[in-house]
Amino acid sequence: MMPPGAPGGREQRTKPAFVVVEDAAALAQSLAERFVVCARRATAERGRFDVALAGGSTPKGAYALLAAPPLAAAVSWNQVRFFFGDERCVPPGDPQSNYRMAREALLEPLRISDANVFRMRGEDAPAAAARSYAELLRRELGTRPVLDLVLLGMGPDGHTASLFPGTDPLSDDELLVRAPYVAKFSTYRITVTPRVINAARHVAIATAGQEKAQALAAVLEGPFEPITYPIQSIDPGDGDLTWLVDRAAASKLTRPL
Ligand code: 6PG
Repeated sequence: MMPPGAPGGREQRTKPAFVVVEDAAALAQSLAERFVVCARRATAERGRFDVALAGGSTPKGAYALLAAPPLAAAVSWNQVRFFFGDERCVPPGDPQSNYRMAREALLEPLRISDANVFRMRGEDAPAAAARSYAELLRRELGTRPVLDLVLLGMGPDGHTASLFPGTDPLSDDELLVRAPYVAKFSTYRITVTPRVINAARHVAIATAGQEKAQALAAVLEGPFEPITYPIQSIDPGDGDLTWLVDRAAASKLTRPL
């Protein structure tokens, strides 16, 4: 994540693109439009679009825009397969479920067939759910899974997906999915690993709000410390990485993006 040659940084394989927008509403629009561009390119080139959805609140606005005119008419939805970057260890109908949020904001309004939705089984024992999702990814995407697009958010602590501070996100790099215990929430989560994220053709990180500004400055301008800031492990190499940030989240950056 570090700009090349940054102090204590590492030469990242990907040079991220940055899109700075006014506010959360503009971020949702920009994220939704980027989704459409990736979807149209993938379906034109390969006849399908495999996307991993992000949880949390930031992407919700983009999902709602995608599920409504005009963007809903811009994508060949029956060629889209929906995966998830992470999930809380709760049943699919739980208010905390990322799947439930996506189902209500995007999948149901677009009448997406269940056959094209591959959720993480938050209702199962965490380790078993992680194993079964890794098997699912291998079955659906091959032994070295390549998604067309991975959507991510960033927490105020620099986490992404459910890669939280305190655990080296780059360890066990053979693992596709893991089930970390997240002490700050006293719960387990299920998350894809950087191995999956960094193999994607496109990664989009959407970050909005003043509460993210400190972490964003540390992630983009500070030393490479992925155990402290797990989102620094996101570096798709041959793929594209785009940060979509609003002015509030970018407000503590000392260098223009
Ligand atoms: C989750 C997400 C998580 C989220 C960040 C940002 O399950 O909550 O995967 O990584 O993207 O916590 O959340 P907000 O978008 O709500 O700020």
